[in-house]
Amino acid sequence: MDAHLKKRIHPHHCVPVSRSETPAGEKAKKCASTIFNVPAKGRQARAQAFHPLTIRGVTMQNRIWVSPMCQYSAHEGFHNLWHTTHYGGMAQRGPGLVMLEATAVQANGRITPEDSGIWLDAHVDELRKHTQFAHSQNALIAIQLAHAGRKASTVAPWLSSAAVATHEAGGWPDNVYGPSDVPFGENYPTPRAMTLAEIDQLKEDFVLGARRAVAAGFDVVELHFAHGYLVFENRTRLALELVEAVRAALPEETPLFVRISATEWLDTNPDYQGESWTLDDTVRLAHLFAERGVKGGPGYQAPFAKAIKRAVGDKLLVSTVGSIKDGVLAEELISGGKDENDTPVDLVAAGRMFQKNPGLVWQWADDLGTSIQVAHQIGWGFGGRGGKTKTPVSNIP
Ligand SMILES: Cc1cc2nc3c(=O)[nH]c(=O)nc-3n(C[C@H](O)[C@H](O)[C@H](O)COP(=O)(O)O)c2cc1C
Repeated sequence: MDAHLKKRIHPHHCVPVSRSETPAGEKAKKCASTIFNVPAKGRQARAQAFHPLTIRGVTMQNRIWVSPMCQYSAHEGFHNLWHTTHYGGMAQRGPGLVMLEATAVQANGRITPEDSGIWLDAHVDELRKHTQFAHSQNALIAIQLAHAGRKASTVAPWLSSAAVATHEAGGWPDNVYGPSDVPFGENYPTPRAMTLAEIDQLKEDFVLGARRAVAAGFDVVELHFAHGYLVFENRTRLALELVEAVRAALPEETPLFVRISATEWLDTNPDYQGESWTLDDTVRLAHLFAERGVKGGPGYQAPFAKAIKRAVGDKLLVSTVGSIKDGVLAEELISGGKDENDTPVDLVAAGRMFQKNPGLVWQWADDLGTSIQVAHQIGWGFGGRGGKTKTPVSNIP
């Protein structure tokens, strides 16, 4: 792309066009423009969702972010053109933060053979392409570090929702580990219980993953402690040790997010009599995370996130995700205040709606009467045409 911009090579036909240089000064000025959010024409104020948010050393241009979503499209953990276009399309269109999918810190921690990986130094080069592009769009970009535990070595969900990935399918069903040797469910590999040495190795690999993420240029690192994967399974001690180790490995200015499932829902199942993880446990865990310097803690579903935020106050930033389908709802969640239980959350994430529409933030900005900055190549046609100044001409030889 650089060559296309600097040398005026036609982007589609790859032949030189008439001018040898582009108006570099003007272009650099436009591309360096800071956060733009302003009330749309005829509006007095910009929406709360479009107020920037600074977390440690980074500033999100708004409070809406792309929830991590596995693409099940990598090869041996390496990203390819699918990932480039998928994440790039969203980064072009104004999100506060794009979170890359669950990315395995160990090869056997992948959910499927096609999961994204960061267990090798060699993974960094492809990952760096995402951060370079996102930063060229003034977007922040994050990565979710994960280990699937007993849920590893299954096939991609669009192939089957209940099948072990066998060796023939690229899986490792005899090298799956978890907290015990009990399988996650009927159609999952039988794990072996992790040894203490394996737990130590896991911690080391999360730290190495975090270091590689920093080397690749990510602005935020998230730890995936949700959805029944390895660290979710009532393993408060492991979660806290991982948070401490990864926080210590990150630069001061890099925020650490932690994704937790606020409940296992088992307390609402009349057929289940045993213990389970509940909202009260999550609130206690959130306090412990806050003491260890975590700055973001996505809950699942707004009422849970609000309860957590009410309990932890300013000690933690709390985000919610789940079926937030329009900007008006996002704004309500971030504004709160409808009644005493309506505690505002700090951030709102969306998943599937971004898959459907990479311009979701732009659409929500329209819903809420706010003008945002999107890629110049796209935005100028919507009223972002340059002024009639003659200055760019002086930069053209
Ligand atoms: C295709 C797909 C892949 C997902 N992969 C991940 C993942 O890698 N990590 C994660 O924490 N959640 C994952 N999720 C959950 C989403 O991040 C999100 O929490 C969920 O889809 C609910 O939000 P939504 O209603 O806005 O889609 C995935 C969801 C979908 C639909």
